[in-house]
Amino acid sequence: MNTNWIKAFGPATVANVSCGFDVFGFALHQPGDEVEVRLNDSGKILITEITGDNHLLPREAHLNTCGVAVQQFLQTTNHSYGAEIKLNKKLPLGSGMGSSAASAVAALVAINHATGDKLSRKELLPFAMEAERIACGSAHADNVAPSLLGGFVLIRDKETLDIINIPTPSDLFAVVVHPHIEIKTSDARQAMRKTLSLTDAVKQWGNTAALVAGLMKEDFNLISRSLEDVVAEPVRSIFIPGYYQVKQAALQAGALGCGISGSGPSVFALCRGEVNAHVVASAVQTAFQDIKLKSDKYISEINLVGAQVLSSD
Ligand code: HSE
Repeated sequence: MNTNWIKAFGPATVANVSCGFDVFGFALHQPGDEVEVRLNDSGKILITEITGDNHLLPREAHLNTCGVAVQQFLQTTNHSYGAEIKLNKKLPLGSGMGSSAASAVAALVAINHATGDKLSRKELLPFAMEAERIACGSAHADNVAPSLLGGFVLIRDKETLDIINIPTPSDLFAVVVHPHIEIKTSDARQAMRKTLSLTDAVKQWGNTAALVAGLMKEDFNLISRSLEDVVAEPVRSIFIPGYYQVKQAALQAGALGCGISGSGPSVFALCRGEVNAHVVASAVQTAFQDIKLKSDKYISEINLVGAQVLSSD
């Protein structure tokens, strides 16, 4: 049994990407959560330390995404080991940046490494999805898949894990701005309409298909035209103060498109080139500041690698 501490990183992610509710997501380079895991022979899973969460996350392993992920992994792979887990929470909670997914993914990459890296990244996905179910009541894959696999992913079918990596242009940059309010994913999902008009459905699937084509053809104009959301944005924007002013500020600053990151309140924009990404990030922060909302900004290329083992000694 490997009793070394294994430390792994799980990156933040932007889910939905405007038109792809529950089917699109991509990974950022930073920020992300760090999780350390050490095997033992107790047969029990214990979370011994959590930092950076203001004591808001559950310490009980069966209620915490890290604990659930590790427990699912050990049970399914027929290991009788126990494990000790430390979580360094660097992502804000309820931010729309895939916070619960990043912790679960980092824990899984660490425990997989501790047991000899026997499972592929894709084989780890069901455990991470189960952890998402504990965190927000829904086992959606559009945060955990890009966090684990890296890149821009399309979840064609989450039951059969038919997940496709979509190539992206190298000078595509993401901006994520997190205003200092919290939205629970479970609440944001509750708010979604249960049915769509045919007109909206046609518009949305036109855009999802076109966004994939735009990314693969490196057609920035098509990417820009496709970043439209007639499904989640009209409902969820109500929870984000100043949302449409913020979006307009991003577009005026030259963003290809701007939308709600995951279930919010963070907003994301896609930009061509790093210089424009900085201009857009500042414009978005100023727009939030105008309505007295403090925020943090993150600028990143698409992270093609995903989660990583940081150390193993
Ligand atoms: N697709 C999910 C949702 C992502 O929008 O509810 C949550 O981060």
